[in-house]
Amino acid sequence: PKADLESFSNHLKQSRRILALLGAGLSASSGLPTFRGTGGLWRSHEATSLATPEAFAQDAALVWQFYSYRRHMALQAQPNLAHHALAALARRNPEFITLSQNVDGLSQRAGHRASQLHLLHGSLFDVRCTAFDCDFIQQNNFTDPIVPALAIPREQAQLKPSETDNTGAEAASSLYNAMHTANASSAKELDISDDRIEIPQIPHDELPHCPQCGDGLLRPGVVWFGETLPRRTMAAVDAFIDEPRKIDLILVVGTSAKVYPAAGYVDEARAKGAKVAVVNMDRKDTPGGPGGLQEGDWFFEGDASKILPEILKPVIGDISRK
Ligand code: APR
Ligand code: ZN
Repeated sequence: PKADLESFSNHLKQSRRILALLGAGLSASSGLPTFRGTGGLWRSHEATSLATPEAFAQDAALVWQFYSYRRHMALQAQPNLAHHALAALARRNPEFITLSQNVDGLSQRAGHRASQLHLLHGSLFDVRCTAFDCDFIQQNNFTDPIVPALAIPREQAQLKPSETDNTGAEAASSLYNAMHTANASSAKELDISDDRIEIPQIPHDELPHCPQCGDGLLRPGVVWFGETLPRRTMAAVDAFIDEPRKIDLILVVGTSAKVYPAAGYVDEARAKGAKVAVVNMDRKDTPGGPGGLQEGDWFFEGDASKILPEILKPVIGDISRK
């Protein structure tokens, strides 16, 4: 485990099939808090304890309030150079795919091609119905179900980047940026300060309900603990890993790699011969022991937004001066 840039560069230049696993640390320097470690708290609640079906069953209003808060935080944040570097790698290399555990939309806003970006844990901007027999899902919903004042004009929110891919991703990034501006001004009206957004507590009988079945409670379209990943996403990832041609390189960026099945994809690809490069602020926060990430082929300890543009430079060029 070393940070040998030269050997990494050589391997990167020869790599065709590349897989990245991303976590909350990628967005940390954009100002979004991680789940574990410092910043893993929202008010007095542990962020991870609110991301469960049990918490939603017990207090849907609280969980919606938490997600509403996260939507606003995400909209106020901007993608950093690490998001841009990965988006650039995707444009350069069609055989590169990204598995993101992040739900903040920052990779999309950096212009990451949708067909190469798999959202393992869904999106803050998807909303779906909880009714057992209803399949209602709305993607890219930018009208906040809790604080409608923070909506963007409907015509701007029509776009579905996942359907259109490349041009979609570009359009999506300008859409998000328009949204960011729209939200910045409504944020002022509501007296929302930069880092401490106050989302009002919503009364239970005003929680958002499904427009399709008229009955079910709507919920954030994210994957909670104990839930399975979207089937199409899993199928796409399995297909990539199971291809006979092996994966050359795995980039593990800003994740404590403690949540499965996401972390399992790295082990699986590694067992089939892929080399692993880890980018993390804190080596000790990643799994140690035999086969652990601390024993990856390369370990770059530090801020992803500084390290990624640097280590990917041999393929993507210098993006920091743009
Ligand atoms: N650059 C690189 N790494 C960083 C940075 C940074 N600027 N800041 C923090 N980190 C690292 C931390 O050291 C930590 O290892 O990012 C990691 C973040 O880990 P977690 O908070 O556990 O986030 P993540 O791995 O994405 O969590 C996985 O758990 O709660 C669920 O569904 C949620 O998707 C999330 C999943
Ligand atoms: Zn419904």
